[in-house]
Amino acid sequence: MTEHSPVSTNTAKAVPTLPDAQTVTAVTHWTDRLFSFRVTRPASLRFRSGEFVMIGLMGDPDPVTAKVRPLLRAYSIASPSWDEELEFYSIKVQDGPLTSRLQHIAPGDAIILRPKPVGTLVHDALLPGKRLWLFATGTGFAPFASLLRDPETYEKFEEVIVTHTCRDVAELEYSRQLIDNLLADEMLQELIGADHLAKLRYYPTTTREHSPRMGRITDLLADGTLLRDLGIEGITADTDRAMVCGSIGLNTDIKVILEGYGLEEGANSDPKHYVVEKAFVG
Ligand code: A2P
Repeated sequence: MTEHSPVSTNTAKAVPTLPDAQTVTAVTHWTDRLFSFRVTRPASLRFRSGEFVMIGLMGDPDPVTAKVRPLLRAYSIASPSWDEELEFYSIKVQDGPLTSRLQHIAPGDAIILRPKPVGTLVHDALLPGKRLWLFATGTGFAPFASLLRDPETYEKFEEVIVTHTCRDVAELEYSRQLIDNLLADEMLQELIGADHLAKLRYYPTTTREHSPRMGRITDLLADGTLLRDLGIEGITADTDRAMVCGSIGLNTDIKVILEGYGLEEGANSDPKHYVVEKAFVG
């Protein structure tokens, strides 16, 4: 239980208990728009890498009834399923109902976590293939932070390519450090396998600040730059599988491009060639 648990004496005034409370264990602020945090994991929570859960805080009291309700949003789990804690990667929206407050959490604080993981960015929603593309913008990288630390991702594919597009270089730092760790950390090398990690290729791009690779991933895909940079001849429904997570614009635009290559959208109940999930903000 957490510090918000009621004290079990008759004289003490009851402190309201958060439903489904978990305790924050670490917070990292990446930029003034982005932060990540880790929380305790409910012992019973099992999830598939790439899934999301509802998390949040108690809202303000209703001005009329004084009732407080939980304020919840969908968050992709960024940690892998073998991790004993849960990690989340979030935007800070200064006037967002939840993230305007969530950005101020600190270790020891409690958050609400509904332990019912769901989502389409899972291996079960894709048919077997040779090459896996993970296309992310902004905090859409979160589910891939989970999938990239899951050995199954490398067992299923010969090549794993993750692209991450952000406005500026500082916003790429979370994914850059995660990839660096995957390639350098001895524990991760042992757990996932050095031969598996050799399949991983990282393709970061920025759109509003100069960097070695610039442009929206949709443009770089459509004009052939991405494939040329990676030395890949083409994308086909026989060989390629894709997962997409980012802004609504990215999801809409990339769908058209992937379908142009003959890829069809899959679901848990009907696995196909690519799957899409929107990044969650607010
Ligand atoms: P851009 O700077 O050209 O808008 P945000 O921080 O707003 O969530 O955006 C994250 C990244 O996603 C930005 O680099 C942004 O590029 C890019 N982006 C926004 N819309 C699209 C789209 N329709 N297709 C591809 N990338 C997009």
